[in-house]
Amino acid sequence: MQKVLLTGAAGYIGSVATALLLNNGFKVVALDNLMYGGESLLSYWHNPMFKFIKLDITDIKSIREFLKKNNFDAIIHLAAIVGDPACAKNKDLAYKVNMEGSLNLIEAAIKNGVKRFIFASTCSNYGKMSPDEHFVDENSPLAPVSLYAELKVKVENIILNEIEKNDTFCPTCLRFATVYGLSPRMRFDLTVNEFTKELALGRELQVFGEQFWRPYCHVYDIANAIKIVLTAEETKVAYNVFNVGEDEENYQKKMIIGEIIKFIPNAMVKYIFKAEDPRDYRVSFKKIKDILNFKITKKVPDGIYEILTALNAGLFNNPDFGGFYNA
Ligand SMILES: NC(=O)c1ccc[n+]([C@@H]2O[C@H](COP(=O)([O-])OP(=O)(O)OC[C@H]3O[C@@H](n4cnc5c(N)ncnc54)[C@H](O)[C@@H]3O)[C@@H](O)[C@H]2O)c1
Repeated sequence: MQKVLLTGAAGYIGSVATALLLNNGFKVVALDNLMYGGESLLSYWHNPMFKFIKLDITDIKSIREFLKKNNFDAIIHLAAIVGDPACAKNKDLAYKVNMEGSLNLIEAAIKNGVKRFIFASTCSNYGKMSPDEHFVDENSPLAPVSLYAELKVKVENIILNEIEKNDTFCPTCLRFATVYGLSPRMRFDLTVNEFTKELALGRELQVFGEQFWRPYCHVYDIANAIKIVLTAEETKVAYNVFNVGEDEENYQKKMIIGEIIKFIPNAMVKYIFKAEDPRDYRVSFKKIKDILNFKITKKVPDGIYEILTALNAGLFNNPDFGGFYNA
């Protein structure tokens, strides 16, 4: 049985990944500083395979001590200040957590013989696709246009190119597509979730730059990709990078609206013209499919449906609650 340390476990992806890993026989030690609270982890509290530790990844001394005392087979590193607006709002904190915090964990993992290390990165690293390209892939140049993506690229670069490669460490970078779907720590600041919520509540939605492309992936499938990487042969994942998503799940914003309108025909949408968007990219997910046999189980319309039904059933007392937003 693998014992894994999951940082950022109380977050949007972390709280879904916790459930999936527990259900698949992993021992999960959830680490988080609970900046958005910890209610998302309550339903795992009674599980003997689950433990929680409240720790800040920037506290290098405590991180070192904690890793020295525990024998982990893997670290899944999700904890971060997440998203362009949240990083732009507090640049010093973003640097401290996303850069220094990540390096603390990498250093402590290597020192304490934690073999597997998964770093949560993002397809935002690609920035704008060149006009003659159809899809960007893992070999395409990276052109981050925000502090958030810049810091992800820097940490990736350290993992993939700067640390000395050897058999005792097996790190993998995963570039997630923009995530959607329900989670115990809900986020309504992600495109599919936000658009669905606003239109479900009968509000007029302003859409800026409806023609721009982005890839999307359901939060359950992201968690599943993490599990697949944890159990993959080392030779396939060591010092490697994978986009996580599916080729057919690249959408323009107007295509997402088109899917929502199938459920809410009277939805009010106002398109606001934008000639340029520094993040306009269609991503290829061929590598993770070919090498790790990763397949998604849900598509954007499934996510829209699940959010709509949860909202309509009254599961959210206050969908505008500030804790559903990172900035
Ligand atoms: N959600 C997406 O669309 C998306 C896309 C690409 C990549 N990612 C990456 O996936 C990871 C998880 O994203 P998410 O959407 O779950 O975000 P989230 O904001 O919901 O979760 C982040 C978690 O990290 C914790 N955290 C923040 N600073 C910490 C610190 N100093 N010490 C300990 N814990 C800390 C927070 O309390 C929170 O629970 C992030 O690394 C993010 O960059 C997310």
